[in-house]
Parts: sequence; structure tokens; C-alpha cells
Amino acid sequence: MPHLTFDPKIEQLLREHVGTEAFRVDPRTVGIADGALLREAMSRRTIHDFESSVFRPVERTRVDPETRKQVMRALAQDIRAATAADSAAWTSDPEHLLGIWPRAGSRHLARLLFRHDPWFLRMLVRTPNSRTAMGLAKAALTKAVPTGSVPSRAGGDMAESALSRLLMDPEAPHRSIALRLYRRTANALCSAVAALLTNAVYLESERPSGARTRDIFLETLRLLPPSWLLSRQAGREYADLHPLIGPGDGLLLCPLLAHRNPLTWDEPSVYAPARWSAVTDPESLTDFVPFGSGTDRCWARSQVVQLAEYAWERGVGRLAVNPSQRVARVEVRPILTVARLDVNHVREARSPAVR
Ligand code: HEM
Repeated sequence: MPHLTFDPKIEQLLREHVGTEAFRVDPRTVGIADGALLREAMSRRTIHDFESSVFRPVERTRVDPETRKQVMRALAQDIRAATAADSAAWTSDPEHLLGIWPRAGSRHLARLLFRHDPWFLRMLVRTPNSRTAMGLAKAALTKAVPTGSVPSRAGGDMAESALSRLLMDPEAPHRSIALRLYRRTANALCSAVAALLTNAVYLESERPSGARTRDIFLETLRLLPPSWLLSRQAGREYADLHPLIGPGDGLLLCPLLAHRNPLTWDEPSVYAPARWSAVTDPESLTDFVPFGSGTDRCWARSQVVQLAEYAWERGVGRLAVNPSQRVARVEVRPILTVARLDVNHVREARSPAVR
């Protein structure tokens, strides 16, 4: 099994600050490692628009609250449709899921959710270069849709995603903003869930637990939380939060550190899904904040978990890592994931997990 190495910056955080409350990161920033303090910081104010990863302004235009709600509703609808019990959207043969994760996972999820969308929208999710993708999508849109509906490659008999129907509404005034929002939200969904799945595949490959799917994901969210670091601009609200915090200090909130607090967790760095078997309300645990806390707690949390569990039980849970891969590396990216995991074979099927 590949040995897990963290980027030196993450390694240093883990070595020096696990178990502390707060610590100085640089002259203008204080890091917060303690769950109770994290929750307190998150409750002091709602996040500014520019602090939001999904709904930060698009082309300098604020994403208004109604659009946010509609986008989230559309995504929820797409996830429900793709994961419905009678959906044959994802075959249960895991061989087709092999590849280098998380990229392979993100591609499969995009196909699962958005495969009936027009090609230029699907390309928006697939193409890493934003300028190229946007250029092509805009050109396709002006050519393909002079007056009305957006053609789907799959033809009229197949349903496009709710996200596409919402954002590609021909009445919508700002097409390019809509395209960017489609790219951002569809990408956020596919890449964040692929990251979560990749982390779970790594952990289970290393130490197969045979645990319930729910417990595998809770433990993965604890040990390798995709959303591991959140930032807050300096503000008066934080002045009395901790003696280390001065008037001009911004905050770095570190769920990754709280999730390994030795005062809360037994053997905090050991992967042990069984620790969750008797926990009925995980969100009530102070040192567990994989989806944040308070008013800005993740709007998509139940949907991403639903999607991850669906994928897990339809093949991802049997994927295994190439035994000749020596090192698996967790890099510094906005989303914490094991990078370039060579998933090259499928494990024997076990008796179905109890949910
Ligand atoms: C594994 C997947 C995900 C994880 C672990 C996650 C985690 C989080 C966390 C920790 C927060 C709190 C942020 C803060 O306080 O600064 C948050 C907020 C939020 N998340 Fe998620 N998230 C995930 C996926 C998504 C997806 C796919 C969407 C939508 C496309 C989404 C939409 C939001 C929204 C709207 C908020 C409210 C604050 C904001 O506007 O940024 N999340 N999420």
C-alpha cells in the first residue's frame, strides 16, 4: 500500500498545532485548531460574499440569494434523480471506475449527473482551462441558440440536468454569468465528492474495515476532510475570541486539526470507522466540523453524502489501489484529497454493508 505523505505545510500544521487552541500563522493571521473555538468563530458573523467558495461573485456580479437557492435546489434535484433506486445511471460493474483518482472519479460523477446536458456544458465541467472552456461554450451558445432552447446531444427524449435547465433558461439575461455558475457549481460538486471518495478508497485500501458505509464516510470526513481550511477576514467580531487574536488579524479555521484533537479522539490519527457505530448525531460533536457550523454550514452536506454513499455502494467501495504505488500524497489545494491515486483493481465483493 502506498505510504501517505502530507505536503510539508500540512505536515507542519499537524506536527505543531494539533491539540492547541490557537496559534500564530504569520503577523496578520491566527490559526484556530480547537473545535469549540472554530464553532464560536463561525457563529460570530455570516461569511462575506468573497469568502464563499461556491457563490463568490461571478464576473464582479454578486450571486443573489434567490439564485443561490435555485442553484442548490437544482443540484439536489439532479442528485436525487441520479441516485434514485430505479436509476440505472451508474452500472454496478466497478471495472469502468478504474483510473487515476480523484480525476477519474470526478469524470464519472460528471457523467452520472450531467450526461444529458449539451456538449458545451459537459465540456465546461471537463476542461481544466477556464478560458478555453468558456470561449468554446460562449461560441456554441451564440451559434446553437439564437432564439430559444438549448439542444442536447442526447436528443429531446432525455432529460437535461435541472442545473442546465435553470441556468440555460433563454430568458436569463446574463448568459456568460450563467455559464460560469454552471461550471463552478457542477465542478464543485464533482470534484469535492470525488475527493471524498478518493480519500475513502485510500483509507479503506490501507485498512479494510468492513464497516457500514455511513461510518466509513464519517471517519473519512474526520481524518481527511476535503474542506480542511477556511479563512475569515479580520474583523471586530473576533477581537475577544482568543487572547492571541489582535485587531488586524484574519483567521484560518482548521477543521483538519480539530478532527485530530487528542483530548477528544482516541488514537486520533488511526482510521477506525467503528468509532462512529454508536454515534447517532455526529454533528453534535464539538471537534467534528467537516461541513462547518452555524448559518454558513454547508448547504449541500446531505446531498454530497448521499451521492458519495451511492457511488460507494455501486462499485467505488470495491476499488483498490495499485500495490506497487509507493507514495500517496496529500497536496495543498483548496480541497484536501489524496492526489493521483492509481486505482487499478477491484476487490472481491463482500456481503452487502448494512446501512
Ligand atoms: C465533500 C463536499 C463538501 C464539503 C466537505 C463541504 C464543506 C463545507 C464547509 C466546511 C462549509 C463552511 C464554509 C465556511 O464556514 O467558510 C461549506 C459551506 C457551503 N457549501 Fe459546502 N462542502 C461540500 C460540497 C459542496 C457543494 C458541492 C456545494 C454546492 C455546489 C456546496 C455549497 C456550499 C454552500 C452554499 C455553503 C455556504 C457558505 C458559502 O456560500 O460558501 N458545498 N461547505
